[in-house]
Amino acid sequence: MADARVIVALDLPDAATALQFADRLAPEKCRLKVGKALFTQAGPDIVKCLVDKGFDVFLDLKYHDIPNTVAAACRAAADLGVWMLNVHAAGGRDMLLAAHEAVGDQTPLLIGVTVLTSLHDDDLQAIGFAGDSAEQVVRLAGLCAEAGLQGVVASAQESARLRQHFPRDFMLVTPGIRPAGSGADDQARTMTPTEAIRAGSDYLVMGRPITRAADPVAVLDEINQALHQAISPNH
Ligand code: C5P
Repeated sequence: MADARVIVALDLPDAATALQFADRLAPEKCRLKVGKALFTQAGPDIVKCLVDKGFDVFLDLKYHDIPNTVAAACRAAADLGVWMLNVHAAGGRDMLLAAHEAVGDQTPLLIGVTVLTSLHDDDLQAIGFAGDSAEQVVRLAGLCAEAGLQGVVASAQESARLRQHFPRDFMLVTPGIRPAGSGADDQARTMTPTEAIRAGSDYLVMGRPITRAADPVAVLDEINQALHQAISPNH
């Protein structure tokens, strides 16, 4: 599988557990996401180890600060050799431009977080955002595109709508993915891998359905097989 679409969220308690788990996976079959909890616990070394093992690593630290600080953080992440990193679109135009200038147009890929899928419309109003979450996602994705970011993190439920507004090469990275028949955990609005790809998602972030599976490799193989069929031009 040359272009792995699944990004496995390594939401595991410590470096040893995360590395042990990664050793069961192959870089050709998936990419890996390191988030705030594992990074805070294990530090940059875990990222370097995973990169050295040949994995594309998405460093999901969602930077949101003044432009100078975010630019420095992005440069530090790029120096770790990550494949993708992200910033909060709500950090504003200057912060997005500074992040883009810090990493350039090639690697790592820089994407923006639009609206956290844990927020409801009344939460957005309480924060002071006008409009509902769907409008807000499109507005923030527009800010990201204007600042030169390569894409956004959004709910797969927004993929079809985002595809209407942005060119095909604007990357959509979507969590909240659950294979048919698996539990939703704490995700409210889920889509299956095939549904998400058909809706226009490029990369699917999946944690627990893979990390907690009795046979993670078998689950991943099954998903990759289904995605291969969904993407194949003759299908
Ligand atoms: O285990 P599960 O598949 O729900 O993991 C989803 C991953 O995607 C977690 O690491 C979670 O933090 C992340 N995520 C999310 N919703 C967002 C952004 C990130 O679930 N809006």
